[in-house]
Amino acid sequence: MTARIPVIAGNWKMHTNLAEARVLIEGIIARSGAVQGVEQVVCPPFVYLMLAAELTKGSAVKVGAQDMFWERAGAYTGEISPTMLAELCEYVIIGHSERRRYFHETDADVNRKVKAALEAGLRPIMCVGETLGERQAGQTEAVLTRQVHAGLDGISLSDRIVIAYEPVWAIGTGVPATPEMANEAIGLVRRELGRIGGSEQAAAIRIQYGGSVTPANASDLMSQPEIDGALVGGASLNVDSFMSIIEQTAQLMTRT
Ligand code: PGA
Repeated sequence: MTARIPVIAGNWKMHTNLAEARVLIEGIIARSGAVQGVEQVVCPPFVYLMLAAELTKGSAVKVGAQDMFWERAGAYTGEISPTMLAELCEYVIIGHSERRRYFHETDADVNRKVKAALEAGLRPIMCVGETLGERQAGQTEAVLTRQVHAGLDGISLSDRIVIAYEPVWAIGTGVPATPEMANEAIGLVRRELGRIGGSEQAAAIRIQYGGSVTPANASDLMSQPEIDGALVGGASLNVDSFMSIIEQTAQLMTRT
C-alpha cells in the first residue's frame, strides 16, 4: 500500500482584509512546525498570495490559489495565469462548486485549467461533488464519474494531482457528509481514477473531503481509509480551528 500523506488546505474564499490575512498566516505558521505527517496549505485570495509566499518562506506551510485561467499570458483582463501563480505558490484549487455555480465553469473549463496547472508545475486540487438534488435523485455516482473523467480528459495521472470530493450540499451548511458517506464517494472517485490511469496510480493520488469540516468532526472524517485530508472553508479562517483540524489529523497518522 502506498502511504498517502494527507493534505489539509484552507480555502479562505473571498474573506479577510490585508491585516487579517497577515495575522492568520502568522498564527498558522507559529503552530505548523510541531506538525508531522500532514501537508499544510493556505489558499488566500489572489491579492494576498505574495504576502503568503513571503511569510511562509522556510516554514512548513504551503500556499495555494483559489482559481486561475488556463492561458499563460494575453489580453484577458482581470485574469491570473498559471505561470504567474507558479512563482508564488505550489497549489491551485480548480473547479470549486462556487466557481461552477456562480461563474458557470464547465467540466471542459476545469479540464483546461487542470492541464495548464500541471504544465506550469502547479499541483491542482480538482473539486468534484454532487448537489443535493443529484444525490436525492440517485445520481451521485454518475455525476462524480462524469466530473472525474471530463476533468482529467487527456491528462496522464500523477501524484501531483489532488482531488477534493465536496458534496455541494455540505459546503458552508454546517452539515457534513457522514464519514461513511464521504468514504464511499471517495472510494468511487478512486475507482474511476483507476479506470483512467490504473490502480497503482489511483492509489497514489490524494483525495480530500470538503464540506463543513470542523474540529468537532475532523477526526471521524480523517480516520476513514479513503480520505486523504480536507479542503476546509469556514473553519480555515481561524487559527485555532484550522490548526486543530491539522493537529488531529497528524495525531491519527501517528496511530497508523
Ligand atoms: P466549508 O467550505 O468548510 O465552509 O463548508 C468548504 C469548501 O468550500 O471548500
